Amino acid sequence: MAEKLVEITRGSVVECEHYGDFVIVNNEGKLIYSEGNPFKEAYFLEPALKFRAEIKCPLIYVGGLVSRAKIDEVLDKGFELVQMARALVHDPEFVNKMKESDSNYRNGCKHSNYCIGRMYTLEMKCHHCVDNLPKSLVKEIEKAEAKL
Ligand SMILES: Cc1cc2nc3c(=O)[nH]c(=O)nc-3n(C[C@H](O)[C@H](O)[C@H](O)COP(=O)(O)O)c2cc1C
Ligand code: SF4
Repeated sequence: MAEKLVEITRGSVVECEHYGDFVIVNNEGKLIYSEGNPFKEAYFLEPALKFRAEIKCPLIYVGGLVSRAKIDEVLDKGFELVQMARALVHDPEFVNKMKESDSNYRNGCKHSNYCIGRMYTLEMKCHHCVDNLPKSLVKEIEKAEAKL
């Protein structure tokens, strides 16, 4: 469940609440503060469902999908399609593999975001495909992956 970040009131009446997950890092990449867990599977589902309830046209859900079970859940909740990025960076064959597997099939991406960190300067790659990463980076990746 995302954390409540903002509550706006008029006198004693709560006018609206905004929920979300966020992290603040300094210019050296050090974590200063965080709320919620943006690493969790389908991290955007809760707010997306609010759009799904109000909007009549077909909608594509995107954000944090790494398992067949969660994709099925999202589609069952009324989204026409899903989009994936990191799961396919991790394993471009993921969709084909899901077709051949049971509902427990899971992608190995654990949302470390290493691929995002390098995407503007280097070719797109998952950390599993890169040899000799600096030890300090491996430690950071492991810390992030433990949060999924
Ligand atoms: C390597 C990489 C490159 C991306 N490039 C773009 C981009 O150019 N434009 C964009 O709108 N989103 C981009 N995204 C964001 C994805 O489209 C997607 O919204 C986001 O990664 C969340 O989905 P996921 O949890 O399946 O990765 C990129 C994501 C990754 C991992
Ligand atoms: S680098 Fe991390 S987030 Fe990116 S695809 Fe690989 S496991 Fe997923």
